[in-house]
This record gives sequence, C-alpha cells and structure tokens, in this order.
Amino acid sequence: MISTIARLGAKKTKIPFDMFELERSADEARRLPKLRNIYHRGQDLAWDGRTILPELIKKHGGINVSPEQKHALSKIFEIILWGELAAWKISAELADELVPLEAKMAATSQAHDEARHFYVMYDYLKELGYTPTRIDPYSQKVLDITLNTGNLAHKLLGMQLMIETIALTIFQEVRESRIEPVLSDLLLYFEKDEARHVGLGTQYLPSILRKQTKAESASTLFFQLRLVFWTISSLKAMERDLATLGITAPNLIKHGRELQMRAHAELWEGHQSPAVNDFAQRVLEGVEDAIFPGLERVVDFRTRLQIFRDSFRANG
Ligand SMILES: [Fe+2]
Ligand SMILES: [Fe+2]
Repeated sequence: MISTIARLGAKKTKIPFDMFELERSADEARRLPKLRNIYHRGQDLAWDGRTILPELIKKHGGINVSPEQKHALSKIFEIILWGELAAWKISAELADELVPLEAKMAATSQAHDEARHFYVMYDYLKELGYTPTRIDPYSQKVLDITLNTGNLAHKLLGMQLMIETIALTIFQEVRESRIEPVLSDLLLYFEKDEARHVGLGTQYLPSILRKQTKAESASTLFFQLRLVFWTISSLKAMERDLATLGITAPNLIKHGRELQMRAHAELWEGHQSPAVNDFAQRVLEGVEDAIFPGLERVVDFRTRLQIFRDSFRANG
C-alpha cells in the first residue's frame, strides 16, 4: 500500500535519472571534458573580491579621475553591473536546466563567478562615489531579451556568446586605456573569468544547434539579429561616454566582432558554418557602418542608406 503511494507520480520527478544514459556523439564526447574543466579551473582560479579591490585601491593611492571621466565610468560600468546580475541569473538557470553533468558543472561555476563580479562591481562603483539606478533602455533591452527567452539555445547564444564577448571587449579596451589604474587591474580578474564563460557557450551550443530543425535555426538567427540590433543601439547610446575614455565605438565593435568570430570558429570547429550566417554578417556590418559614421559627422538617413549599401557590397 505505502509502496504504491510512493510510486504514484514517481514519473513526474525533477531528477533526471536517465542523465547518464543519454547518447553522446563523438563530438560531444570530445567537448564535455572541456566543460568539466571550466568548473575545475573556476575553482582553482577563484579570487577574493573582499581583499583584491581594497589592495588595488591601496596600491594606486585611491581612484583619481576627472569629473567627466568619473561620469563616463559610472554610466558604462553601471550597465556592466546590471549585466553581471543578468549573467548571474542566467547561469543559475542554466545550472538547473542543462542536463549533462559537465555542462551543469560549468554553469554552476559561472554562477559563482558572476555573484563575485556583481558584488565587486557594486563595491567599485561605491568607491567611485556612484549609486546605481537605471540604465539606458537599449542596454536594458539587450539584457531583457536574453533573460526573458524560454529557449535554451537562445539563452546560451545571447549570454555566453554575445553579451559575454561584448563585456570582454569593453573590459579590454578600458583596461588598455589605463584611464583608471584600479579598474584596469581589477578588470584583468574579470576577463579571465569571462573567457571561461564564453567557453560554456562554444563547447555546449553545438549539441543543441545540431539537433535544431530548419524552423528552429531560422528562429535562432532571428533572435541573434534582434539582439545584435539592440546591442548596436546600446553602444550608440554609450558612444559619448566611451569617447570620454578614449574609446571609439566602431573600434570597440571591430574588436568585439573579432572575438565573436573566434568564438564562432570554435563553435563550428570541424563543421560547416551555415551559409545564412555569412549573409547575416554582411547585413550587420552594413548596419554598423551606417549607424557609426563617426561621432562628429552629421549624416541624414539617405546617406546612411548609401553607407549601408556600399558596405554590404564591399563585404560580398
Ligand atoms: Fe561576469
Ligand atoms: Fe560572465
């Protein structure tokens, strides 16, 4: 009697008892140990934000920047702050939703890193004398689209491949500008962690993407295009603050694209990348050129269309 009651509804469990019986392709078998390694590397390289930030402030004699630079740093790194929270939420969701042990481990390790990034970035902004409030609607859109999708492939593509690579590019550019030495040194710690997070995307996404139907692939491509559109709009909104730090938006996009290309090469390693991706790339490059003709150049819509057409043809 009791055993019958216990067995009732047993099939509705949230424990994936069949997780070790799932078939693995040769490619998956090669990628899964890399995912497991992301977890172990995360454990070995975990740093303590409670000591690192105060040490850096002491080393550089505090944070010394002009009011304009302070304003620009606050605005840009507030977007990063909320982006870290979004990354924390998404990696925690992935840690729950991904079934293979190795992928689950990698996502769990990322959630641990993102929690540290969030509190350390908050502490840094406090040291800068800034209290976070809201961000521009374009950057919020990028985060909301990725947070709100119920599709696992879209979530991984959006966070691990797109948002993480953009954040990495901003970190590298700000660090190299040496505008604020405390932040430059601090970002080095962030960058090492973020590079592992991109690894979760490049190593796990092929398992999902290869099982997609044509309709699903088209919807994934559409999701990517939407995200890129809002990302470019968000960078446009940041353009003046970036310029205050000596960073030009087109240059940032160029470096971000190089990083994304490397991630995509890793993603499709040993496989033919879909041709539709190349077409989408050309469209996006044209859009970028039309949106960023230069900070001081005033252009009308007709000229922007012309720039788009020239760029699209040149990249063909
Ligand atoms: Fe992060
Ligand atoms: Fe990250």
